[in-house]
Amino acid sequence: MRSLVRMFRFVRPYRWYAAGALTLLLGMVGADLLIPRLTQRIIDQGIAAGDMRVIATTALAMIGAAIVSTLFAVANTILSVRVGQGFAHDVRSALMRKVQTFSFRNLDRLQTGQLIVRTTSDVAMVEMIVAMSLRILTRAPVWVVGSMVLLTLTSRQLAWLLVAFVPVIVALVSVFLARARPMFLGVQKQLERLNTVLQENLAGVRVVKAFVRERHEARRFDRENEALMRKNIHVMSFFAVLTPSMTLLVNLGVVGAIWLGGRAAIGGTMTVGQVVASVNYLTYALFPMMLIAGMMGPLSAAEASASRILEVLDAEPDVREKPQSQRLSASGSPRGARVAFKDVTFAYDGDGGEPVLRGVSLVAEPGETVAILGATGSGKSTLIHLIPRFYDVTGGRVTVDGVDVRDLPLADLRRQVGIALQEAVLFTGTVRDNIRFGRPEASEEEVIAAAQAAQAHEFILNLPQGYDTVVGERGVNLSGGQRQRIAIARALLVRPRILILDDSTSAVDIETEVKLQDALDRLMAEDHSATRFVVAQRISTVLLADKIVVLDRGRVAAIGTHDELLRGSPIYQDIYASQLGNGGVDRGA
Ligand SMILES: Nc1ncnc2c1ncn2[C@@H]1O[C@H](COP(=O)(O)OP(=O)(O)O)[C@@H](O)[C@H]1O
Ligand SMILES: [Mg+2]
Repeated sequence: MRSLVRMFRFVRPYRWYAAGALTLLLGMVGADLLIPRLTQRIIDQGIAAGDMRVIATTALAMIGAAIVSTLFAVANTILSVRVGQGFAHDVRSALMRKVQTFSFRNLDRLQTGQLIVRTTSDVAMVEMIVAMSLRILTRAPVWVVGSMVLLTLTSRQLAWLLVAFVPVIVALVSVFLARARPMFLGVQKQLERLNTVLQENLAGVRVVKAFVRERHEARRFDRENEALMRKNIHVMSFFAVLTPSMTLLVNLGVVGAIWLGGRAAIGGTMTVGQVVASVNYLTYALFPMMLIAGMMGPLSAAEASASRILEVLDAEPDVREKPQSQRLSASGSPRGARVAFKDVTFAYDGDGGEPVLRGVSLVAEPGETVAILGATGSGKSTLIHLIPRFYDVTGGRVTVDGVDVRDLPLADLRRQVGIALQEAVLFTGTVRDNIRFGRPEASEEEVIAAAQAAQAHEFILNLPQGYDTVVGERGVNLSGGQRQRIAIARALLVRPRILILDDSTSAVDIETEVKLQDALDRLMAEDHSATRFVVAQRISTVLLADKIVVLDRGRVAAIGTHDELLRGSPIYQDIYASQLGNGGVDRGA
């Protein structure tokens, strides 16, 4: 139960509610434990002695105890719910905040489906145990001990019976517990797999339809769905044995107590009232053990969930800030930053892995536009992701104005960078809010200027509510090219010193591309406020760049201006010939 215990730090803010719940619980158990004693009194001093007054007063006391117990139970539940829900809320927030600190590498490892299951279903599972433990789990031991003490006081003989039973029950429960945990881990893992398939299918439902793969995908889902059902049935069946066996044990205990007590009463060593009270106490002592046994299922499930939650909370973001990060010197060029790659090597799976970039060296002077050209998979996106430290280099270094990016505060570094990622993701909200994402305080004029520069202004005005149009989930009511242009406007608006456009023109039609190209050309020619990295697959996109870097399988194959490369680089000549040789409208590699 190590993970659950560790999760208890999230209960701390609610410890006073928890303390209140536990106090009420003690009162509840006290009132409950009084009842057999009072029963004994009614039988021995009321019924057997023929005293109606004792019966009446004791009955009143019993009612009182029952009412107190009920009121306490209600208050206890309310407090427990408060603790449980507060706990769940805080854990969900902590998970969300943790995920925000993740590097791209962390995110590569934990899939969205996994994170969703952990933030919802796993948290709910642990929350249930937290609330339950304030109601049932902690009540049970108090109840057991209290009943044992009272049973010993009422009849020492019958107390021995309990002593014989306890080890049997403890053994049974521990065997179950040991076997249950891996099963519950299996169930949650399966739930994750189901969620991943589901999530992929919902996100990619259009692709599925386009390729008429509905049946295939439905089958894939069915497989995981069925596996989940089987695993659940397996666990439940396993537990189907536990609770009835416990009931059987308790019933055997009661029969034993009645048999022993009956003999003692006939022999005159116990009163009938004592026998009844003892049988009750015995039941009280055994019954909570059943409760605990019944909770073993959820408890192991919660332990499994807690360990999965902690796996996320414990994950080390591998892009970390140094304790004494440097500031970018104020003398850095206001026009744009100087960005340099020095002998950079990078592998996605760390040191031992297959490098995706090898020995890359290049320099972008302030205000320069560097075009990065290369086939799909040559490492273009990877290269530019190293600038804002989405990943850290495996070897060599990346510097901004001479400072290693690893020595800069992350927020400082990333505020210098405006980036339009290859896949333009928009958030649910208005077009304006999406453009203002990186600088919510930007004025209307600035938003429009950015949209104009990104060739987005015109089509935005043609949307039903212009800049107030709400773009749907993932921006589905916009075309890919429109989304990309909004993403470019979003990158321009932050007035970055380093502007990065990753394949921004790949999803737009030829006409838009020409316009966008135009806008980019103008940006390149007029505005030197930023150093630019423009990833492109098409030569037409790069003609005007100050520097063209041709990547080939992770290596710099050539570097220079268009004219230089056309003269000196065979690989560039090839690309040029294949693309411009037949009219310049070919899509690149
Ligand atoms: N997140 C990732 N994890 C592991 N490998 C990756 C990841 N992203 C890209 N790769 C691999 O790195 C190589 C370069 O990819 P990328 O930089 O995206 O190329 P490009 O942008 O030039 O098309 C490819 O072989 C690709 O499979
Ligand atoms: Mg790419």
